[in-house]
Amino acid sequence: MPYGSRLAAQMTRRLGRPCLYTPSARLALYLALRRWCAPGARVLMSPVNDDVILFVVLAAGLRPVQAPVSVWDGNIDPAAVPESTWRNVDAVLTTNLYGVPDRVVELRRRCDQLGIPLFEDAAHAIGTRVEGQPIGTFGKAAAFSLSKHVAGMAGGFLAVEDARERREMERLRDELLVPGRLPGDLATTLRPLARSAVRGLHLVRPVWRTMQHLGLLERDTFRMDLRPRRLAECARHAPSLSAYEPWVRVDLHGFRERHGALVHAQLKVRMDRLDGDLTRRSVGVSLLAGTAWAGRALRDRTAEEGALPLFRVPLLVEDRDVLLDRLVDHGVVCGYVYDPPLDDYAGAEFVEPSPDPSAARWFASHTLPADPLLARRIINALAKERARPALPETPAPDSASGSGPSPERGAATTKPQAR
Ligand SMILES: Cc1ncc(COP(=O)(O)O)c(C=O)c1O
Repeated sequence: MPYGSRLAAQMTRRLGRPCLYTPSARLALYLALRRWCAPGARVLMSPVNDDVILFVVLAAGLRPVQAPVSVWDGNIDPAAVPESTWRNVDAVLTTNLYGVPDRVVELRRRCDQLGIPLFEDAAHAIGTRVEGQPIGTFGKAAAFSLSKHVAGMAGGFLAVEDARERREMERLRDELLVPGRLPGDLATTLRPLARSAVRGLHLVRPVWRTMQHLGLLERDTFRMDLRPRRLAECARHAPSLSAYEPWVRVDLHGFRERHGALVHAQLKVRMDRLDGDLTRRSVGVSLLAGTAWAGRALRDRTAEEGALPLFRVPLLVEDRDVLLDRLVDHGVVCGYVYDPPLDDYAGAEFVEPSPDPSAARWFASHTLPADPLLARRIINALAKERARPALPETPAPDSASGSGPSPERGAATTKPQAR
C-alpha cells in the first residue's frame, strides 16, 4: 500500500481527481514544480503569498516572476500581466489567497494557449468551487494543506490528472521523505490539541505575549529573516530541497517527515469533520462579509453566490498593524499576514519584480485576515477598537465574472508601509 493511501483515497473521493498524501502542501508543490518545470524555468505567481512558497520555488531551481494582482483579493490579475511577461513565463502558480479563488478559468485558458502548466496552490481553498468545479481540478496539479482548514500540524495532498501520474509522483515523494520519529509524531499530534486548549481556556493573550517575550516565535515580523548571503549561496545547489530547508521548513519543521499511524489517525478524524468545519466557516464568512470592513468584492460575491467556506476573510482596514496587536488583547492572533509583497521582501536578486506593485502593496498592508470561525469575537473586538474600513481608489469590481479591476485602473489611496 502506498504511504498515506487511506487519507489519499478520502481526498480523491472528495475532489474527483487522483491524490497522493504528502506531509505538507509545500512538499506537494515542490514535487509538482520539479516534475513539470525544467531548472531555470520562470513561474508567474502573486507576490501576496507566504514566503515559504517563494523558497519552495527557489528550491526547485526556478525563477519566481511576480504578477500584478487584483487590489480586491491579492490574486493574480491576468488582464494586467503584460503580454511580454506572458510570452516569457513557463508556468503559472495560483494562490487562492485565504480561499478566495484565483481567476482560474482565464488562467487555464491562457496557459492552454501558451502550452504551459497551471499549478494550483489550494492550501487555503479546500472547500472553494468556481462555477461548481472544485479548486484543485483546473490545472496540471494542485497542492492541499491539512494544516489549514482542519488545523492539523501536518498533512497535505498533491492532486494530479491521472493514476499513472499519481504512481510516478508517489515514487518521487518517497525519495524526498525523511524517516519520522516517535517524539516528533507525538509533538505533531499533541500540538493542535494544546492550541485548542489554550483557546478554550481563554489563554491566547498570555501565551502569545509570553512566546513573543521569550523569542519563541519563528518570525519577528510578518516575513522570516531572508539571510540573503546564505540564500544566494544555495543557488548553486538548486534544485535541492535540502539546501533550502532552513527557509522551507519555517512554521512546519516536519514538512517532509514520514509520520506514522498516530499522526495519520488524528488527521483521519480531522478529515472526517471537514464538511462540518466548512459549513461553520461559511456562516462566519456571511457575518464578516456583512461588515463595513469586508471589501466590496467579497460583499458582492457573497450576496450573489452565497458565502464561500474561506480559510480567512481578508478584511480591509486602516492602521492594520495596530489592530493586529490590539486583537491579541481580545484573544485573537491573526497570522497569515503576507506583508510586504514578495518582490519588496526578497528584491530583484531572488525574484523578478512585478511591473506594477501598487495593488499588491496596498492589499498586503491593509488586509487583516480574520478567521471566520471566530467571526463574532473579531467583529466585537474591531467595533470596540473603532476599526476604520480601508478603501482602495478603484471602480467597483466586477464580482460576477470574478475579475477585479486591474491595478492600472486604480492607484492606492494610502501609502504602503515601509519595509
Ligand atoms: C498559500 C499557502 N500555500 C501553501 C502553504 C504551505 O502549506 P503547508 O504548511 O501544509 O506546507 C501555506 C502555509 O501557510 C500557505 O499559506
